[in-house]
Amino acid sequence: MNNNLAVVGLQWGDEGKGKIIDILSAGVDVVVRYQGGNNAGHTVVKDGKRYAFHLIPSGILHPGKLCVMGNGMVVDPLALLHEIDELRAQGVEISPRNLRIAENAHVIFPYHRKLDGFREKIRSNRIGTTGRGIGPCYMDKYARSGIRVGDLLNPRLFLSKLADNIREKNGIYRQVFGYDGFSEEEIAREYLGYAERIKDFVCDTVSLLHQVWEEGKTILFEGAQGTMLDVDFGTYPFVTSSNASVGGIFSGTGLPPKVLGKVIGVAKAYATRVGEGPFPTEFKDAMGDLIREKGGEFGTTTGRPRRCGWFDAVLVRYAVQVNGVDELVVTKLDVLDNLEEIKVCVGYRYEGRELETFPFDIDVFSSVVPIYKTFPGWKVDTSSVRRFEELPSEAKAYLNFISEFVGARISMVSVGSDREEVIFVD
Ligand code: IMP
Repeated sequence: MNNNLAVVGLQWGDEGKGKIIDILSAGVDVVVRYQGGNNAGHTVVKDGKRYAFHLIPSGILHPGKLCVMGNGMVVDPLALLHEIDELRAQGVEISPRNLRIAENAHVIFPYHRKLDGFREKIRSNRIGTTGRGIGPCYMDKYARSGIRVGDLLNPRLFLSKLADNIREKNGIYRQVFGYDGFSEEEIAREYLGYAERIKDFVCDTVSLLHQVWEEGKTILFEGAQGTMLDVDFGTYPFVTSSNASVGGIFSGTGLPPKVLGKVIGVAKAYATRVGEGPFPTEFKDAMGDLIREKGGEFGTTTGRPRRCGWFDAVLVRYAVQVNGVDELVVTKLDVLDNLEEIKVCVGYRYEGRELETFPFDIDVFSSVVPIYKTFPGWKVDTSSVRRFEELPSEAKAYLNFISEFVGARISMVSVGSDREEVIFVD
C-alpha cells in the first residue's frame, strides 16, 4: 500500500475535479497530468480568486509542489505560454523548479486545429469537439508522424519532421478540403520561438517520476475529462481521443500500475455534458436552464452552455468498475438544494427490455429510456454544512443510495465552489 492517488472523472468531464485536486494536492509532493491537452478546463477558486487551468496541473497553486505534464499529453505551446503568463499575472510562481514537461509529449500544430474544424464541418455525426486540435494531434502520434516536445529543441530533427508534415498536410487538405495554406517557414519560426521559451521546463519526466517515486514522495495523478469521454470506455465516437480513465496513467507517465495506492472517482450530484452525443438523462424542460444557471454550467474552455440532466447511476457504476474506484467524491450537491424531487437513473428501457449496464452500441444508447428512482428534495441550503451527519436526512438518503448503487464509499461531498465548502466523510 502506498499513498499515491489518482483523481478521475466518472461522467463526461466537468465533475469539479479541479477543486478536489486542489484540496488533495495539499497532502502530496508531486501532481502529474497524464492525458489530454487544452481541451480540459479546471477552475479553482482560492480566497475568492478564480484560476483557470487547461494544461498545467492545478497543484501549481501550492508552493513547493512539483507539477508534471506527462508524456500522454498533447501540448499546444501557444496555449501553454498563455496559461503561464495568465497565472503569473495572478501571482502564481511558475518556474522549472515547480513545472516540468515531458520531452516525449506530443505537440499540437496549426494543421491539427485546422483539421479538427474541417472534420467537424464535413461529418454528419458531429462530435462537438473543443476545436483545439486534440484528436488530430493524437492521430499523428499513432500514425508515427507526430512531433514531440523534445523535437522542438533539436532544430535539425524538428525541421525535417515539420517538412514531412507540411508536405503531407498541404497535399491531403488540398484534395479533401480545398486548403493548402500551411507555410513551413512561418510555422518553423513560430515554433522555434516557443521552443526557446519552454526549453527550461522540458525534461525526461519518466526518469524524474521514477526518481521521486523511489524517494518515497507522494504523487497525485490528475485525470482530465471523464470516463464517459475515454476513447475506449466512453460513448464512442462522442469522446475525446485519449484514455481519461486510470489506464491512461501508465502509458501517459511511464510509471507502472503498482505505483497507484488509491483511486478517487469524482462525480457531480447530477450530470452534465458538453458537445454532442447521447445523454439519456438530459433535462428536456426548464429544469435544464435552472440547473445550468444555479450550477454555473458553462464550459471553462469554450464557454459553451453545458447540457444538464439527472445523475445516471448506471454509468457511474460502470465508471467505478473501469477505474477500480476506492473512494467516491460527490460534487455540487448544493445545486440540488431547492428541488421538490430528485431523480437517479437506475436502469434503461430499450425495446421492451430492461438494460442494467451501459450498452456500447451507440444506436442503442441513443434510444434508451431511463428508469428512475425518485427521491424527495431537502429544500435546505447545504452550502454551510461541514459534517455529513448534519446534512438533511433526504440528502443523506440520496447520497447513501448513490454510494451503495455504484459500489464505492463516499469520502467527500462538495457543497460550493470555495475550497472550504466541503464535507469530509469519515
Ligand atoms: P475534443 O477533446 O476537443 O476532441 O472533444 C471531444 C469531446 O470531448 C467533445 O464533446 C468535448 O466537448 C468533450 N470534452 C473535451 N474536453 C473536455 C473537458 O475537459 N470537459 C468536458 N468535455 C470535454
